[in-house]
Amino acid sequence: MPEYDSAELEPNERGRIIKSAVTPRPIAWISTTSTDGVDNLAPFSSYNYVSSAEPVVIFNTPYAEGDEQKDTPRNVLETEEFAVNVVTEPLAQTMDTTAASLEADESEFDYAEVDRAECETIEPPRVADAVVTMECTLYDSMRVRDRLAILGDVEYFHVDESVMTDGQIDAAKVDTVGRLGGPYYTVSDLIEFERQF
Ligand SMILES: Cc1cc2nc3c(=O)[nH]c(=O)nc-3n(C[C@H](O)[C@H](O)[C@H](O)COP(=O)(O)O)c2cc1C
Repeated sequence: MPEYDSAELEPNERGRIIKSAVTPRPIAWISTTSTDGVDNLAPFSSYNYVSSAEPVVIFNTPYAEGDEQKDTPRNVLETEEFAVNVVTEPLAQTMDTTAASLEADESEFDYAEVDRAECETIEPPRVADAVVTMECTLYDSMRVRDRLAILGDVEYFHVDESVMTDGQIDAAKVDTVGRLGGPYYTVSDLIEFERQF
């Protein structure tokens, strides 16, 4: 079995292994609004939660300053608000379209024809067709080598009736799309077996 000392690999070789091994990754489809009032929407798969009872989510993006920054981290740092929309199979193609690098004054909501719905506690709109949206305020951010990690305090949940059973969210009904290495996505396909613990 090939083995590698991380220090002896090129950065792109390390990245290729990490991005293929840490899979499938959930996708945060993040909506923000700029200080100029432009609604932004983009997918981020270096994403997860770090606490659940008092929920905090995290995503990261290349560390950059000024004009080099992506719109999403800039908007989050300036407004301290963002919404995480969950990507399910019917939304995958549209989510992918919103990864386009548009000018800061152009909205991916309009570019990809995504319907907006209002959030309750924050200014940015949410994706109307997302089965779950989490409204977040900035909890903290930190530079980790060449990346900027952004943490969000989840203040409010929207959960669509279609993914509820007996008054509770039903994991089996949330058909999330995951990101694999390279250009690949994957869909949720339940494995039927008896959980022991
Ligand atoms: C499925 C998917 C996952 C992505 N994950 C990330 C990520 O975790 N971090 C990142 O910086 N960019 C990620 N990207 C690229 C951004 O979505 C892309 O750079 C986008 O243009 C950023 O938009 P913005 O400038 O409006 O924020 C991802 C793209 C796709 C399609």
